[in-house]
Amino acid sequence: MQSKNKRAIVTGGTRGIGKAIVKELASKSCCGVLFSDVAFIYNSCDECAAEIEREVGSLDTKIIGFKADATSLEEAQRTVDAAIEKLGGVDILVNNAGITRDNLLLRMSEKEWDDVINVNLKSVFNYTKAVLKHMVNQRYGRIVNIASVVGLIGNAGQANYAASKSGIIGFSKSIAREVASRNVTVNCVAPGFIETDMTKSLNEKQRELLSQNIPMKRMGKPEDIARVVGFLCSPDADYITGQVIAVDGGMTM
Ligand SMILES: NC(=O)c1ccc[n+]([C@@H]2O[C@H](COP(=O)([O-])OP(=O)(O)OC[C@H]3O[C@@H](n4cnc5c(N)ncnc54)[C@H](O)[C@@H]3O)[C@@H](O)[C@H]2O)c1
Repeated sequence: MQSKNKRAIVTGGTRGIGKAIVKELASKSCCGVLFSDVAFIYNSCDECAAEIEREVGSLDTKIIGFKADATSLEEAQRTVDAAIEKLGGVDILVNNAGITRDNLLLRMSEKEWDDVINVNLKSVFNYTKAVLKHMVNQRYGRIVNIASVVGLIGNAGQANYAASKSGIIGFSKSIAREVASRNVTVNCVAPGFIETDMTKSLNEKQRELLSQNIPMKRMGKPEDIARVVGFLCSPDADYITGQVIAVDGGMTM
């Protein structure tokens, strides 16, 4: 019997926000069906990938990890082709992989700039390009790109990160215009400060200072972001495209 599940690809799915998104798409009533089958892309920790396959996969959903460096267009094309073969197609893409290499611009190396732009922005180009033809041909696609509030308001010490995240927003709005008439939507979620490995290095004092600047006075959880991604992939969001939804406890209001 042919599966009626939607088919999703999530980059950077082994931990943090990406892992929560894999779980959400696998469990949510997404796009008018019960579940999504999910292929997630990861670049390290084979054991973490195997654990997610075991933990989230079920009789109803296929969860498959593909090891690849998201900065490579060639690897993106290869993994998307393999994911489509295993899942039978692709309906949803969530570009989530991201890194930080923080430094004040006067001290920032060319490598710190290039690494962040390549992982955060070029990967979005790579995976969007690799899935778009399929989505346009089937007249259906939901693309959600994980930006950041830093891409909206900037942050001292994160010029590379802010540029990558603002770039994602401009890219998303442009592609949204290119493919809207083909029933492919492209939206961004801009998280505020979320409890993950990325923010683990902050000490207690930095956390307290940050929280003071958040109207809701606390950091968010990966699930806060995942639920909004699930919404944007659901039929309730069928008429939403080219938007940026900040999920930030009120930071950017
Ligand atoms: N945590 C926050 O406060 C926060 C705030 C705003 C935006 N974001 C964004 O949310 C996304 C997820 O962040 P997170 O906090 O879960 O971070 P994280 O460091 O916990 O996870 C990042 C994921 O990206 C993957 N990744 C990194 N480089 C890769 C590469 N070259 N190829 C393939 N995968 C790669 C990692 O393996 C990991 O799974 C990122 O895009 C990040 O910029 C996070």
